[in-house]
Parts: sequence; structure tokens; C-alpha cells
Amino acid sequence: MSGADEMLTRVLADEDATVAFGRELHDAIRQRLGDTAVVYLHGNLGAGKTTLVRGVLRMMDHVGAVKSPTYTLLEPYTTEHGDVFHFDLYRLKSPEELEFLGFDEIFEGPGYKFVEWPEQGAGWLPPANVEVSLSLHKPAGDANEAGLMQRRVSVRFA
Ligand SMILES: Nc1ncnc2c1ncn2[C@@H]1O[C@H](COP(=O)(O)OP(=O)(O)O)[C@@H](O)[C@H]1O
Ligand SMILES: [Mg+2]
Repeated sequence: MSGADEMLTRVLADEDATVAFGRELHDAIRQRLGDTAVVYLHGNLGAGKTTLVRGVLRMMDHVGAVKSPTYTLLEPYTTEHGDVFHFDLYRLKSPEELEFLGFDEIFEGPGYKFVEWPEQGAGWLPPANVEVSLSLHKPAGDANEAGLMQRRVSVRFA
């Protein structure tokens, strides 16, 4: 990949594929941006955003659990390969709340900042270096059941 507005897209057949894509995403981010990046994660509830962050953290040799930050707004991780800040702004009441919580310091510092529901922080969040979109993907064949839906991911570098 080279130049601005690079795009990377994949169909992810199952949860394991989403986790495995974390390696590809991590490599692409590291190669393009080094150890500091703001990554917006777009997609509806259940699209696989948190699963993908888990994949990136696995790639960075994080061995513990990866919890959804839905209630805490932030789960921070320190790894041998750098810091990761995983935000989920679904329950954020207003963008200014981010400043009250001291999150501005995090965005000024190093590390990867993954942000689920970035729309909720519009006007306050710094712009994304990377935008990831996840959506449901109907596999070819007879799979009509929701449980058999796959995912599609696209990654755009600003
Ligand atoms: N490629 C995939 N195919 C099918 N299911 C997936 C895939 N990736 C993740 N999932 C499932 O989607 C569900 C929701 O994932 P999650 O990462 O919590 O979504 P989000 O953070 O976007 O709300 C989980 O049960 C996970 O196993
Ligand atoms: Mg989530």
C-alpha cells in the first residue's frame, strides 16, 4: 500500500478470522504510523469492533482478558510493544465529558487509541489516522440465519 486514502478490505469468515485480522491491522498501522495512532472503529453493535481490538492486543503479546469498555468508557493496556487505549463511547453523554475524564492527556501521548462509537465524541476527538469499518456479510450459499453471518472489514488510512 502507498499514498493517501489507502484501503484494505477483507471478508472475515468467523470470530477467529476477526482476531487474526488484528495481526494484519497491527502490522499495517505500525508500518505506516509507528507506535502512535488514533483508530476509529465504525460499525453497529455486534459488528466485531471489540473482537478486532482483542486481535491487535494478542498480536502485541497481551495475554490477559480483553473486556468491552462499554461501561468504563476506557480500558487501558500496557504491553511490551506499547500502550493501547481502548475506548467505547457508546454511553458517553457529551463530548466534553471526555475532557472531564482527563482523556485529552491520553490523546496527546503515545500509544494506539482505538475508539468504538467515535461519532459520540465528535468535535472533541482528534481526527483519525485510521478508520476501520465493520459490517455484517452474508456468506454465499444457504446461510440465512443471523448466527451464520460473517463480517466485512475495510480499513482506510488518512
Ligand atoms: N468474522 C466474524 N464472523 C462471525 N461472528 C463474528 C465475527 N467477528 C466477531 N464475531 C462475533 O460478533 C459478536 C460481537 O462482537 P464484538 O466484538 O463484541 O462487537 P462490537 O464490539 O462491534 O459490538 C461476538 O459474538 C463475536 O464472536
Ligand atoms: Mg464493542
